[in-house]
Amino acid sequence: MATKTIIEPFRIKSVEPIRWTTRQQREELLRAAHYNLFLLPADDVLIDLLTDSGTGAMSTEQWAAVMRGDESYAGSRSFTHFRDSIQEIFGYRHVIPTHQGRAAERILFGVACKKGDVVPNNTHFDTTRANVEFVGAEAMDLPISEASRPSAWHPFKGNMEVAALEQLIARVGRERIPLVMLTITNNSGGGQPVSMENARAVSAVCRKHGIPLYFDACRFAENAWFIKLREHGYEKKTPKQIAHEMFALGDGCTMSAKKDGMANIGGFLCTNDDNLAAQEKDLLILTEGYPTYGGLAGRDLEAIAVGVQESLEEDYLRYRIASTAYLGEHLAREGVPIVQPPGGHAIYLDARAFLPHIPLEQFPGVALAAELYLEGGIRSVEIGSLMFGKAAKWDLVRLAIPRRVYTQSHIDYVIEVILDVWPRADWRVAGDLRSALPAAFHGISGAGGGGEDLRLRVATYCGRLRWYTANSYPGFGGNSSLILRRRSPSASGASSG
Ligand code: F0G
Repeated sequence: MATKTIIEPFRIKSVEPIRWTTRQQREELLRAAHYNLFLLPADDVLIDLLTDSGTGAMSTEQWAAVMRGDESYAGSRSFTHFRDSIQEIFGYRHVIPTHQGRAAERILFGVACKKGDVVPNNTHFDTTRANVEFVGAEAMDLPISEASRPSAWHPFKGNMEVAALEQLIARVGRERIPLVMLTITNNSGGGQPVSMENARAVSAVCRKHGIPLYFDACRFAENAWFIKLREHGYEKKTPKQIAHEMFALGDGCTMSAKKDGMANIGGFLCTNDDNLAAQEKDLLILTEGYPTYGGLAGRDLEAIAVGVQESLEEDYLRYRIASTAYLGEHLAREGVPIVQPPGGHAIYLDARAFLPHIPLEQFPGVALAAELYLEGGIRSVEIGSLMFGKAAKWDLVRLAIPRRVYTQSHIDYVIEVILDVWPRADWRVAGDLRSALPAAFHGISGAGGGGEDLRLRVATYCGRLRWYTANSYPGFGGNSSLILRRRSPSASGASSG
């Protein structure tokens, strides 16, 4: 029998209770958190869709592997398992463990980049951009034009604009571009995949100019599944074969094992360049640890060795991508504006379209995220004007789905809450969604007179800190210069956590 229902391809062996709160409690909790969902105690969140990073459930095989962890300082058996498993999928000569993805980024850009360089990417993730900028280089996003329109449908909306890459190389010169990066899937661009055709074209441009190509491989397995579903010629290939083909187009990668590594912590950096690897290992020893553990315990290395293979299992990927689409399709069917098509790890609500009556300087994304918590105890994250300041191209609310954690009924509940909020968001019907957040800002700026030292610290989803002052925050400073001030990392050291 051909069934339509795609069930979770696992049984539940260990459970963790989640806790209901009343609306009144949530109002108080939200006020106490200054409407910043990062400041909520996680116990007061019913469904936590803040991130899919490190929040997944490990399998019985992973927990069994944890018990086999070899905690030797050097030459650990667990490192051999880790390296062999990664090499079998990624194929790169050097595998350098790090405590998470951003540590791999810091080491790569610290060694390969210098002031004045330019790093192109389809879209840099927040920490990737910060690490490029930290060494004085420029992070350049080159997404395809469809990526800027949330409602536009494109099967590979994460693609890089190849012509723009060629133009950039011609304009700034090959010598200022130490590497090109492709983020698979494109997280900041809506969790959208990159096609093999696009990766091949980007790789060809890089090879022509002798520029190394690196992958930000966090969600490589989800990307491989999208290629299998949507790209001609890949229908019969396994996700692993697709991953092999993709990684063979590049020279290395950075990876957060907290995503498609199916682990709660960990990451790695790969390269085929012996020279670079030697320098990277020197820096690794300085800040992460010896190259056979790199800031991780032996048991973490074991969990990743198993998890990275599990992320490529077809039953898992079929369920994973279908369950994200399930959320997206149920919302879109009722007219809720989302980034189309549904991404791999998350659904992104288009807050500008959802709350058209809230001006951008009043953060529609934050207002919507606050409302979802207030209404249903759901935690999401704003990706927009608060996170990126004036550079924000959109205001999205990301509902990221942890791996193997929530069942379909949890997702049905999320749909119910959003569909309850959605009609009330119509400015013609009611004004009760006039963002709670600006009221909080008013309170803060009003309380202390709005001096320079009155700073609102905002932690974004990767822990990055931005500082707004009452005077520099547009809309709330009264006589302010209406400039959104962002402390530069070099000036303050406070821009990235
Ligand atoms: N690259 C991408 C595409 C990411 O999504 C992330 C993390 C990183 C790099 C950094 O990895 O967290 O292990 O240091 N994304 C998380 C998120 C934080 O919620 O999307 P990390």
